[in-house]
Amino acid sequence: MSDLKDKIVLVTGAAGTIGAAMAVAIRRAGGMAIASDLSGRTGNDLDLDVTSEADWQRTAAALDKTHGRLDGLVNAAGIVAVGSVEKLDFATWRRVLAVNLDGAFLGCKYAMPLLRKRGGSIVNLSSVSGLVGGHNLAAYNASKGGVSLLSKSVALHGARLDPPVRCNAVCPAFVEGPMIDGIVAGARDPASAHAKLAQEIPLRRLGRPDEVAALCVYLLSDESSFITGADLPIDGGLTAR
Ligand SMILES: NC(=O)c1ccc[n+]([C@@H]2O[C@H](COP(=O)([O-])OP(=O)(O)OC[C@H]3O[C@@H](n4cnc5c(N)ncnc54)[C@H](O)[C@@H]3O)[C@@H](O)[C@H]2O)c1
Repeated sequence: MSDLKDKIVLVTGAAGTIGAAMAVAIRRAGGMAIASDLSGRTGNDLDLDVTSEADWQRTAAALDKTHGRLDGLVNAAGIVAVGSVEKLDFATWRRVLAVNLDGAFLGCKYAMPLLRKRGGSIVNLSSVSGLVGGHNLAAYNASKGGVSLLSKSVALHGARLDPPVRCNAVCPAFVEGPMIDGIVAGARDPASAHAKLAQEIPLRRLGRPDEVAALCVYLLSDESSFITGADLPIDGGLTAR
């Protein structure tokens, strides 16, 4: 297992399926996970609405005061909305872009001064939906495509720093949890919609949050020190064909 000994890592969306698995995996690897999510969610070390610039400024100042640095950031906060370009209303589009893309931008921006002190690693949760389109995922596709390209820009900026700050995008396919439950809930037959999702994956099952967390821990660790600016699918082969 990758080593995160002495590394301090901020996780957004840490009350969610992948974020919670992230916090567990970071601690298991010997690191310090600082779990953040919207106010009122369980397990928060701190409240952080990723769409709020003021929240990010307050968080960065508090982390600087307490720890003096960050070694890693995992932008795991995210929402999904199902809808084609014709069906989706503008308010929903803006909300999805705000959480998924503005949130990742603000995270990278305000964590960077703390990460560049000793060098570090950012992991942005993109999606296979950031790599390929879906007819009914207009906002989610746009947001995750943005996260993947934002990650490359951040990686190129971070590569110019000394010590460098790496940045990568992780692109899971369907992972068991409430996000997928929410997507299939709108179907006429949610159980068969869920089974259909698994059939679309060459490995014939959905992903597990701990599998995504293990990849993110590797990217946070020094073992991945030559990987930056990458989109890493973790999708059971979905985007291989
Ligand atoms: N679950 C999947 O199948 C899947 C697949 C590919 C990518 N992803 C991405 O992985 C990330 C985590 O997904 P998940 O399955 O854990 O989802 P989840 O719904 O279980 O958790 C998302 C978390 O984000 C938090 N959140 C929402 N808006 C927020 C805001 N404004 N500020 C701070 N936190 C906020 C929620 O409170 C929740 O705890 C997301 O970015 C998602 O798009 C998920």
